[in-house]
Amino acid sequence: MDKILVSGGNRLEGTIPISGAKNAALPLMIASLLTEGTLVLQNVPHLADIESLKRILTNHGVDYRVEGKRRGQGGNGGKTIHFSTPEIVDTTAPYDLVSRMRASFWVIGPLLARMGEARVSLPGGCAIGTRPVDLFLESLSAMGAGLEVEGGYVIASAGSGLTGNRYKFPKVSVGATHVAMMAATLAKGETVLQNAAREPEVIDLARCLKAMGAKIEGEDSGTIYIQGVDELHGATHRVLPDRIETGTYAIATAMTGGNVLLEGAQDNLLETALDAIRQTGTRVENENGGIRISRGNEPIMPVDITTEPFPGFPTDLQAQFMALMTKAKGRSCISETIFENRFMHVQELARLGADIHLDGQSAIVEGVDHLTGAPVMATDLRASVSLVIAGLAAEGQTEISRVYHLDRGFENLEEKFSRCGASVSRVSE
Ligand code: UD1
Repeated sequence: MDKILVSGGNRLEGTIPISGAKNAALPLMIASLLTEGTLVLQNVPHLADIESLKRILTNHGVDYRVEGKRRGQGGNGGKTIHFSTPEIVDTTAPYDLVSRMRASFWVIGPLLARMGEARVSLPGGCAIGTRPVDLFLESLSAMGAGLEVEGGYVIASAGSGLTGNRYKFPKVSVGATHVAMMAATLAKGETVLQNAAREPEVIDLARCLKAMGAKIEGEDSGTIYIQGVDELHGATHRVLPDRIETGTYAIATAMTGGNVLLEGAQDNLLETALDAIRQTGTRVENENGGIRISRGNEPIMPVDITTEPFPGFPTDLQAQFMALMTKAKGRSCISETIFENRFMHVQELARLGADIHLDGQSAIVEGVDHLTGAPVMATDLRASVSLVIAGLAAEGQTEISRVYHLDRGFENLEEKFSRCGASVSRVSE
Protein backbone atom coordinates (compact mmCIF):
# COMPACT_ATOMS: atom_id res chain seq x y z
CA MET A 1 0.00 0.00 0.00
CA ASP A 2 1.22 3.52 -0.78
CA LYS A 3 2.41 5.96 1.85
CA ILE A 4 2.91 9.70 1.68
CA LEU A 5 6.11 11.13 3.15
CA VAL A 6 6.10 14.77 4.19
CA SER A 7 9.22 16.57 5.37
CA GLY A 8 8.23 19.74 7.17
CA GLY A 9 9.73 23.18 7.26
CA ASN A 10 9.40 24.55 3.71
CA ARG A 11 7.28 27.57 2.92
CA LEU A 12 4.84 27.23 0.03
CA GLU A 13 5.62 29.56 -2.90
CA GLY A 14 4.10 29.35 -6.37
CA THR A 15 0.87 28.56 -8.20
CA ILE A 16 -1.60 25.73 -7.59
CA PRO A 17 -4.28 25.05 -10.22
CA ILE A 18 -7.65 24.25 -8.62
CA SER A 19 -9.43 21.21 -10.09
CA GLY A 20 -13.10 20.72 -10.83
CA ALA A 21 -15.14 19.88 -7.72
CA LYS A 22 -15.47 16.19 -6.93
CA ASN A 23 -18.66 16.79 -4.97
CA ALA A 24 -20.21 18.58 -7.96
CA ALA A 25 -18.95 16.14 -10.59
CA LEU A 26 -20.46 13.10 -8.84
CA PRO A 27 -24.12 14.25 -8.86
CA LEU A 28 -23.66 15.71 -12.37
CA MET A 29 -22.50 12.33 -13.66
CA ILE A 30 -25.49 10.69 -11.96
CA ALA A 31 -27.81 13.23 -13.62
CA SER A 32 -26.80 11.75 -16.98
CA LEU A 33 -29.09 8.80 -16.10
CA LEU A 34 -32.09 11.13 -16.48
CA THR A 35 -31.85 11.43 -20.26
CA GLU A 36 -31.36 9.40 -23.43
CA GLY A 37 -29.31 12.32 -24.71
CA THR A 38 -25.60 12.95 -24.18
CA LEU A 39 -24.42 14.95 -21.19
CA VAL A 40 -20.98 16.43 -21.80
CA LEU A 41 -19.18 17.38 -18.58
CA GLN A 42 -16.07 19.56 -18.78
CA ASN A 43 -13.45 20.06 -16.08
CA VAL A 44 -14.03 16.65 -14.47
CA PRO A 45 -11.20 15.91 -12.01
CA HIS A 46 -9.19 12.72 -12.28
CA LEU A 47 -9.93 10.98 -8.96
CA ALA A 48 -10.60 7.50 -7.61
CA ASP A 49 -14.21 8.41 -6.69
CA ILE A 50 -14.90 9.55 -10.27
CA GLU A 51 -13.49 6.27 -11.63
CA SER A 52 -15.63 4.26 -9.19
CA LEU A 53 -18.77 6.12 -10.19
CA LYS A 54 -18.02 5.60 -13.90
CA ARG A 55 -17.91 1.84 -13.23
CA ILE A 56 -21.18 1.98 -11.29
CA LEU A 57 -22.91 3.96 -14.04
CA THR A 58 -21.81 1.57 -16.80
CA ASN A 59 -23.60 -1.16 -14.87
CA HIS A 60 -26.87 0.74 -15.44
CA GLY A 61 -26.17 1.14 -19.17
CA VAL A 62 -24.24 4.42 -19.30
CA ASP A 63 -21.62 4.71 -22.06
CA TYR A 64 -18.90 7.25 -21.52
CA ARG A 65 -16.15 8.64 -23.71
CA VAL A 66 -13.24 10.68 -22.39
CA GLU A 67 -12.06 13.36 -24.83
CA GLY A 68 -8.34 13.30 -25.55
CA LYS A 69 -6.04 16.15 -24.62
CA ARG A 70 -6.44 19.27 -26.80
CA ARG A 71 -3.75 21.63 -28.07
CA GLY A 72 -2.78 24.17 -25.41
CA GLN A 73 -4.22 22.09 -22.59
CA GLY A 74 -1.74 21.52 -19.76
CA GLY A 75 -1.43 18.35 -17.73
CA ASN A 76 -3.62 19.76 -14.98
CA GLY A 77 -6.74 20.54 -17.02
CA GLY A 78 -9.81 18.51 -16.06
CA LYS A 79 -11.21 15.97 -18.48
CA THR A 80 -14.17 16.39 -20.79
CA ILE A 81 -16.37 13.29 -20.58
CA HIS A 82 -19.44 12.44 -22.67
CA PHE A 83 -22.07 10.35 -20.86
CA SER A 84 -24.98 8.78 -22.72
CA THR A 85 -27.64 6.36 -21.55
CA PRO A 86 -29.81 5.45 -24.54
CA GLU A 87 -31.35 2.73 -22.41
CA ILE A 88 -31.19 1.87 -18.71
CA VAL A 89 -30.45 -1.83 -18.73
CA ASP A 90 -30.31 -2.49 -14.98
CA THR A 91 -32.10 -0.67 -12.16
CA THR A 92 -30.15 -2.46 -9.42
CA ALA A 93 -27.14 -0.81 -7.79
CA PRO A 94 -25.46 -3.73 -6.00
CA TYR A 95 -23.81 -3.77 -2.59
CA ASP A 96 -20.26 -4.40 -3.81
CA LEU A 97 -20.37 -1.17 -5.84
CA VAL A 98 -22.44 1.12 -3.60
CA SER A 99 -20.61 0.13 -0.41
CA ARG A 100 -17.43 1.75 -1.74
CA MET A 101 -18.88 5.20 -2.16
CA ARG A 102 -21.87 6.74 -0.45
CA ALA A 103 -22.69 9.10 -3.33
CA SER A 104 -23.48 6.15 -5.59
CA PHE A 105 -26.68 5.68 -3.55
CA TRP A 106 -27.88 8.84 -5.27
CA VAL A 107 -28.65 6.89 -8.50
CA ILE A 108 -31.93 6.02 -6.74
CA GLY A 109 -33.42 9.40 -7.78
CA PRO A 110 -32.83 9.27 -11.55
CA LEU A 111 -33.51 5.53 -11.83
CA LEU A 112 -36.84 5.90 -10.09
CA ALA A 113 -37.81 9.00 -12.07
CA ARG A 114 -36.93 7.55 -15.46
CA MET A 115 -37.77 3.86 -14.99
CA GLY A 116 -40.35 3.88 -12.17
CA GLU A 117 -38.20 1.44 -10.18
CA ALA A 118 -34.84 1.16 -8.44
CA ARG A 119 -33.18 -1.38 -6.18
CA VAL A 120 -30.22 0.25 -4.49
CA SER A 121 -27.98 -1.10 -1.75
CA LEU A 122 -27.75 0.94 1.42
CA PRO A 123 -24.52 2.97 1.19
CA GLY A 124 -20.98 2.92 2.63
CA GLY A 125 -18.49 5.79 2.33
CA CYS A 126 -16.24 7.68 4.76
CA ALA A 127 -16.56 6.54 8.38
CA ILE A 128 -17.55 9.95 9.73
CA GLY A 129 -20.84 9.18 11.42
CA THR A 130 -23.91 7.02 11.01
CA ARG A 131 -25.11 8.91 7.90
CA PRO A 132 -28.64 7.54 7.52
CA VAL A 133 -30.77 7.79 4.35
CA ASP A 134 -34.13 8.60 5.96
CA LEU A 135 -34.37 12.03 4.30
CA PHE A 136 -33.81 10.57 0.83
CA LEU A 137 -36.59 8.07 1.44
CA GLU A 138 -39.00 10.58 2.98
CA SER A 139 -38.63 13.02 0.10
CA LEU A 140 -39.10 10.30 -2.55
CA SER A 141 -42.06 8.93 -0.63
CA ALA A 142 -43.60 12.43 -0.65
CA MET A 143 -43.46 12.20 -4.46
CA GLY A 144 -45.46 8.97 -4.35
CA ALA A 145 -42.68 6.36 -4.40
CA GLY A 146 -43.34 3.03 -2.73
CA LEU A 147 -40.36 2.12 -0.57
CA GLU A 148 -39.22 -0.99 1.24
CA VAL A 149 -35.92 -1.91 2.84
CA GLU A 150 -35.12 -5.57 2.43
CA GLY A 151 -31.85 -7.49 2.71
CA GLY A 152 -29.76 -4.32 2.83
CA TYR A 153 -31.44 -2.89 -0.27
CA VAL A 154 -33.89 -0.04 -0.73
CA ILE A 155 -36.54 -1.18 -3.19
CA ALA A 156 -38.31 1.83 -4.68
CA SER A 157 -41.20 1.84 -7.10
CA ALA A 158 -43.41 4.37 -8.82
CA GLY A 159 -45.34 2.38 -11.41
CA SER A 160 -47.21 5.32 -12.89
CA GLY A 161 -44.39 7.82 -12.30
CA LEU A 162 -43.58 10.26 -9.50
CA THR A 163 -45.94 13.09 -8.60
CA GLY A 164 -44.80 16.55 -7.52
CA ASN A 165 -45.42 17.49 -3.90
CA ARG A 166 -44.29 19.86 -1.16
CA TYR A 167 -41.61 18.45 1.13
CA LYS A 168 -39.73 20.16 3.94
CA PHE A 169 -36.40 18.57 4.89
CA PRO A 170 -36.25 18.36 8.72
CA LYS A 171 -32.47 18.77 8.43
CA VAL A 172 -30.31 20.20 5.63
CA SER A 173 -28.83 17.37 3.53
CA VAL A 174 -26.76 17.89 0.41
CA GLY A 175 -27.23 14.35 -0.89
CA ALA A 176 -30.98 14.20 -0.23
CA THR A 177 -31.43 17.60 -1.93
CA HIS A 178 -29.54 16.36 -5.02
CA VAL A 179 -31.67 13.23 -5.20
CA ALA A 180 -35.05 14.88 -4.59
CA MET A 181 -34.26 17.62 -7.13
CA MET A 182 -33.21 15.12 -9.80
CA ALA A 183 -36.27 12.94 -9.18
CA ALA A 184 -38.64 15.93 -9.28
CA THR A 185 -37.44 17.05 -12.74
CA LEU A 186 -39.43 14.18 -14.30
CA ALA A 187 -42.33 14.07 -11.80
CA LYS A 188 -45.85 15.15 -12.77
CA GLY A 189 -46.58 18.71 -11.67
CA GLU A 190 -44.77 20.95 -9.21
CA THR A 191 -42.43 19.90 -6.40
CA VAL A 192 -41.42 22.36 -3.70
CA LEU A 193 -38.41 21.42 -1.58
CA GLN A 194 -38.12 23.50 1.60
CA ASN A 195 -35.07 23.70 3.86
CA ALA A 196 -33.08 22.38 0.91
CA ALA A 197 -29.27 22.51 0.86
CA ARG A 198 -27.82 25.64 -0.83
CA GLU A 199 -24.29 24.31 -1.28
CA PRO A 200 -22.59 25.48 -4.50
CA GLU A 201 -22.70 21.87 -5.73
CA VAL A 202 -26.52 21.89 -5.45
CA ILE A 203 -26.64 25.12 -7.48
CA ASP A 204 -24.25 23.62 -10.04
CA LEU A 205 -26.47 20.55 -10.41
CA ALA A 206 -29.56 22.77 -10.81
CA ARG A 207 -27.80 24.78 -13.54
CA CYS A 208 -26.90 21.59 -15.39
CA LEU A 209 -30.42 20.16 -15.06
CA LYS A 210 -31.81 23.44 -16.42
CA ALA A 211 -29.44 23.16 -19.41
CA MET A 212 -30.94 19.67 -19.90
CA GLY A 213 -34.45 21.16 -20.06
CA ALA A 214 -35.54 20.98 -16.41
CA LYS A 215 -37.66 23.78 -14.94
CA ILE A 216 -36.08 24.76 -11.62
CA GLU A 217 -36.15 27.99 -9.60
CA GLY A 218 -34.91 29.10 -6.20
CA GLU A 219 -32.00 26.66 -5.95
CA ASP A 220 -29.86 29.26 -4.15
CA SER A 221 -32.57 30.21 -1.65
CA GLY A 222 -33.26 27.06 0.37
CA THR A 223 -36.68 26.61 -1.27
CA ILE A 224 -36.49 24.94 -4.66
CA TYR A 225 -39.44 24.96 -7.09
CA ILE A 226 -39.37 22.27 -9.76
CA GLN A 227 -41.97 21.92 -12.52
CA GLY A 228 -41.79 18.38 -13.84
CA VAL A 229 -41.25 17.89 -17.59
CA ASP A 230 -41.84 14.79 -19.77
CA GLU A 231 -38.20 14.34 -20.66
CA LEU A 232 -34.76 15.91 -20.41
CA HIS A 233 -32.24 16.22 -23.22
CA GLY A 234 -28.45 16.30 -23.56
CA ALA A 235 -26.37 19.36 -22.64
CA THR A 236 -22.83 20.57 -22.05
CA HIS A 237 -21.84 21.74 -18.58
CA ARG A 238 -18.59 22.82 -16.94
CA VAL A 239 -17.97 21.54 -13.38
CA LEU A 240 -17.34 24.40 -10.93
CA PRO A 241 -13.96 24.73 -9.13
CA ASP A 242 -13.46 22.65 -5.99
CA ARG A 243 -14.05 24.87 -2.94
CA ILE A 244 -12.72 22.22 -0.55
CA GLU A 245 -9.49 21.83 -2.51
CA THR A 246 -9.25 25.65 -2.59
CA GLY A 247 -9.70 25.89 1.17
CA THR A 248 -7.26 23.04 1.78
CA TYR A 249 -4.39 24.71 -0.11
CA ALA A 250 -5.25 28.08 1.41
CA ILE A 251 -5.02 26.57 4.90
CA ALA A 252 -1.77 24.78 3.98
CA THR A 253 -0.25 28.10 2.89
CA ALA A 254 -1.42 29.76 6.10
CA MET A 255 0.21 26.89 7.99
CA THR A 256 3.66 27.05 6.35
CA GLY A 257 3.71 30.74 5.51
CA GLY A 258 4.59 31.76 1.96
CA ASN A 259 2.77 33.05 -1.08
CA VAL A 260 0.57 30.94 -3.35
CA LEU A 261 -1.83 31.77 -6.18
CA LEU A 262 -4.78 29.36 -6.25
CA GLU A 263 -5.48 29.46 -9.96
CA GLY A 264 -9.13 29.26 -11.01
CA ALA A 265 -10.40 29.42 -7.42
CA GLN A 266 -13.61 31.42 -6.74
CA ASP A 267 -13.94 33.22 -3.42
CA ASN A 268 -17.76 33.31 -3.45
CA LEU A 269 -17.77 29.50 -3.02
CA LEU A 270 -16.12 29.63 0.42
CA GLU A 271 -16.42 33.12 1.92
CA THR A 272 -16.87 31.93 5.51
CA ALA A 273 -13.79 29.73 5.37
CA LEU A 274 -11.70 32.47 3.72
CA ASP A 275 -12.83 34.89 6.45
CA ALA A 276 -11.68 32.46 9.13
CA ILE A 277 -8.33 32.08 7.34
CA ARG A 278 -8.01 35.90 7.19
CA GLN A 279 -8.63 36.13 10.92
CA THR A 280 -5.60 33.89 11.51
CA GLY A 281 -3.47 36.75 10.15
CA THR A 282 -3.19 35.42 6.61
CA ARG A 283 -3.73 37.65 3.56
CA VAL A 284 -6.43 36.48 1.14
CA GLU A 285 -6.81 38.52 -2.08
CA ASN A 286 -8.59 38.06 -5.39
CA GLU A 287 -6.20 38.11 -8.31
CA ASN A 288 -6.49 37.34 -12.05
CA GLY A 289 -9.23 34.76 -11.84
CA GLY A 290 -7.82 33.19 -8.71
CA ILE A 291 -7.12 33.78 -5.03
CA ARG A 292 -3.72 34.73 -3.63
CA ILE A 293 -2.88 33.51 -0.12
CA SER A 294 0.14 34.86 1.73
CA ARG A 295 1.55 34.97 5.22
CA GLY A 296 4.94 36.22 6.42
CA ASN A 297 6.51 35.45 9.79
CA GLU A 298 3.59 36.74 11.86
CA PRO A 299 2.12 34.25 14.33
CA ILE A 300 -0.99 32.25 13.43
CA MET A 301 -3.83 33.74 15.46
CA PRO A 302 -6.37 31.36 17.06
CA VAL A 303 -9.89 31.45 15.54
CA ASP A 304 -13.00 29.59 16.71
CA ILE A 305 -15.13 27.92 14.05
CA THR A 306 -18.40 26.00 13.93
CA THR A 307 -19.25 23.85 10.93
CA GLU A 308 -22.65 24.57 9.40
CA PRO A 309 -24.51 24.00 6.14
CA PHE A 310 -23.59 26.49 3.38
CA PRO A 311 -22.93 29.42 3.64
CA GLY A 312 -21.42 28.43 7.03
CA PHE A 313 -17.97 26.95 7.59
CA PRO A 314 -17.85 23.65 5.62
CA THR A 315 -17.44 20.40 7.57
CA ASP A 316 -15.14 19.23 4.78
CA LEU A 317 -12.57 21.87 5.89
CA GLN A 318 -12.87 21.26 9.64
CA ALA A 319 -9.96 18.80 9.93
CA GLN A 320 -7.66 21.01 7.85
CA PHE A 321 -8.49 24.09 9.94
CA MET A 322 -7.87 22.14 13.11
CA ALA A 323 -4.41 21.22 11.80
CA LEU A 324 -3.72 24.96 11.32
CA MET A 325 -4.94 25.76 14.83
CA THR A 326 -2.50 23.25 16.36
CA LYS A 327 0.23 25.85 15.70
CA ALA A 328 -1.79 28.95 16.59
CA LYS A 329 -0.69 31.35 19.30
CA GLY A 330 -3.36 30.46 21.84
CA ARG A 331 -6.55 28.45 22.29
CA SER A 332 -9.27 27.84 19.71
CA CYS A 333 -12.55 25.95 19.76
CA ILE A 334 -13.68 23.89 16.78
CA SER A 335 -17.31 22.72 16.85
CA GLU A 336 -18.71 20.12 14.47
CA THR A 337 -22.47 20.26 13.96
CA ILE A 338 -22.89 18.23 10.75
CA PHE A 339 -21.38 14.80 11.50
CA GLU A 340 -21.18 13.34 15.02
CA ASN A 341 -18.01 11.32 14.52
CA ARG A 342 -15.78 13.63 12.56
CA PHE A 343 -12.88 14.01 15.00
CA MET A 344 -10.90 10.92 14.11
CA HIS A 345 -7.95 13.08 13.02
CA VAL A 346 -7.57 14.36 16.61
CA GLN A 347 -5.65 11.35 17.87
CA GLU A 348 -3.44 11.34 14.77
CA LEU A 349 -2.67 15.07 15.13
CA ALA A 350 -1.83 14.35 18.77
CA ARG A 351 0.84 11.91 17.56
CA LEU A 352 2.57 14.90 15.96
CA GLY A 353 2.50 16.75 19.27
CA ALA A 354 -0.78 18.66 18.94
CA ASP A 355 -2.61 19.53 22.17
CA ILE A 356 -6.33 18.88 21.58
CA HIS A 357 -9.11 17.95 24.03
CA LEU A 358 -12.49 16.73 22.91
CA ASP A 359 -15.54 18.05 24.68
CA GLY A 360 -18.66 16.57 23.09
CA GLN A 361 -19.13 18.09 19.65
CA SER A 362 -16.22 20.49 20.17
CA ALA A 363 -12.45 20.23 20.12
CA ILE A 364 -10.39 22.62 22.21
CA VAL A 365 -7.04 23.21 20.55
CA GLU A 366 -4.13 24.73 22.51
CA GLY A 367 -1.59 25.93 19.97
CA VAL A 368 1.93 24.51 20.43
CA ASP A 369 5.30 25.96 19.39
CA HIS A 370 6.25 23.06 17.27
CA LEU A 371 4.97 19.76 15.89
CA THR A 372 7.25 16.77 15.33
CA GLY A 373 6.96 14.35 12.40
CA ALA A 374 5.67 10.82 13.18
CA PRO A 375 3.98 7.87 11.48
CA VAL A 376 0.21 8.51 11.28
CA MET A 377 -2.78 6.93 9.63
CA ALA A 378 -5.34 8.52 7.31
CA THR A 379 -8.85 7.78 8.58
CA ASP A 380 -11.06 9.53 6.04
CA LEU A 381 -10.72 11.74 3.02
CA ARG A 382 -10.54 15.19 4.60
CA ALA A 383 -8.85 14.00 7.81
CA SER A 384 -6.01 12.53 5.78
CA VAL A 385 -5.16 15.85 4.13
CA SER A 386 -5.16 17.52 7.55
CA LEU A 387 -2.25 15.22 8.42
CA VAL A 388 -0.37 16.36 5.32
CA ILE A 389 -0.93 19.99 6.37
CA ALA A 390 0.32 19.31 9.88
CA GLY A 391 3.29 17.40 8.44
CA LEU A 392 4.24 20.42 6.30
CA ALA A 393 4.82 22.43 9.46
CA ALA A 394 6.30 19.64 11.60
CA GLU A 395 9.98 19.15 12.33
CA GLY A 396 11.28 16.02 10.61
CA GLN A 397 9.35 13.47 8.59
CA THR A 398 5.69 12.50 8.77
CA GLU A 399 4.70 9.20 7.20
CA ILE A 400 1.02 8.88 6.33
CA SER A 401 -0.40 5.43 5.61
CA ARG A 402 -3.78 4.42 4.12
CA VAL A 403 -3.48 7.16 1.53
CA TYR A 404 -6.17 5.64 -0.69
CA HIS A 405 -8.45 8.03 1.20
CA LEU A 406 -6.51 10.98 -0.26
CA ASP A 407 -6.71 9.61 -3.80
CA ARG A 408 -10.50 9.61 -3.56
CA GLY A 409 -10.62 13.38 -3.45
CA PHE A 410 -7.35 15.25 -4.15
CA GLU A 411 -6.03 15.36 -7.71
CA ASN A 412 -2.21 15.37 -8.07
CA LEU A 413 -1.73 16.28 -4.42
CA GLU A 414 2.00 15.53 -4.20
CA GLU A 415 2.69 17.31 -7.48
CA LYS A 416 0.68 20.40 -6.50
CA PHE A 417 2.51 20.70 -3.18
CA SER A 418 5.94 19.84 -4.62
CA ARG A 419 5.66 22.49 -7.34
CA CYS A 420 5.37 25.05 -4.52
CA GLY A 421 8.51 23.87 -2.78
CA ALA A 422 7.08 21.42 -0.25
CA SER A 423 8.63 18.03 0.28
CA VAL A 424 5.71 15.63 -0.28
CA SER A 425 6.30 12.31 -1.99
CA ARG A 426 4.69 8.91 -2.38
CA VAL A 427 6.30 5.56 -1.77
CA SER A 428 4.84 2.17 -2.67
CA GLU A 429 5.50 -0.76 -0.40
C1 UD1 B 1 -22.09 15.77 1.22
C2 UD1 B 1 -20.65 15.72 0.75
C3 UD1 B 1 -19.73 15.63 1.93
C4 UD1 B 1 -20.01 16.76 2.91
C5 UD1 B 1 -21.49 16.80 3.28
C6 UD1 B 1 -21.88 17.99 4.13
C7 UD1 B 1 -20.60 14.61 -1.41
C8 UD1 B 1 -20.21 13.40 -2.17
N1 UD1 B 1 -20.44 14.56 -0.08
O1 UD1 B 1 -22.33 14.55 1.90
O2 UD1 B 1 -18.39 15.72 1.45
O3 UD1 B 1 -19.26 16.50 4.08
O4 UD1 B 1 -22.28 16.85 2.09
O5 UD1 B 1 -21.59 19.16 3.47
O6 UD1 B 1 -21.03 15.60 -1.97
N2 UD1 B 1 -28.53 13.00 7.15
C9 UD1 B 1 -29.58 12.34 7.75
N3 UD1 B 1 -30.44 11.64 6.94
C10 UD1 B 1 -30.28 11.56 5.59
C11 UD1 B 1 -29.21 12.25 5.00
C12 UD1 B 1 -28.35 12.97 5.83
O7 UD1 B 1 -29.76 12.38 8.96
O8 UD1 B 1 -31.09 10.90 4.93
C13 UD1 B 1 -27.60 13.76 8.01
C14 UD1 B 1 -26.18 13.21 7.96
O9 UD1 B 1 -26.00 12.14 8.86
C15 UD1 B 1 -25.41 14.45 8.40
C16 UD1 B 1 -26.19 15.60 7.77
O10 UD1 B 1 -27.49 15.08 7.52
O11 UD1 B 1 -25.44 14.59 9.80
C17 UD1 B 1 -25.62 16.15 6.49
O12 UD1 B 1 -25.42 15.11 5.58
P1 UD1 B 1 -25.49 15.34 4.01
O13 UD1 B 1 -25.55 16.79 3.70
O14 UD1 B 1 -26.55 14.43 3.46
O15 UD1 B 1 -24.08 14.82 3.56
P2 UD1 B 1 -23.77 14.05 2.25
O16 UD1 B 1 -24.67 14.48 1.14
O17 UD1 B 1 -23.66 12.60 2.57
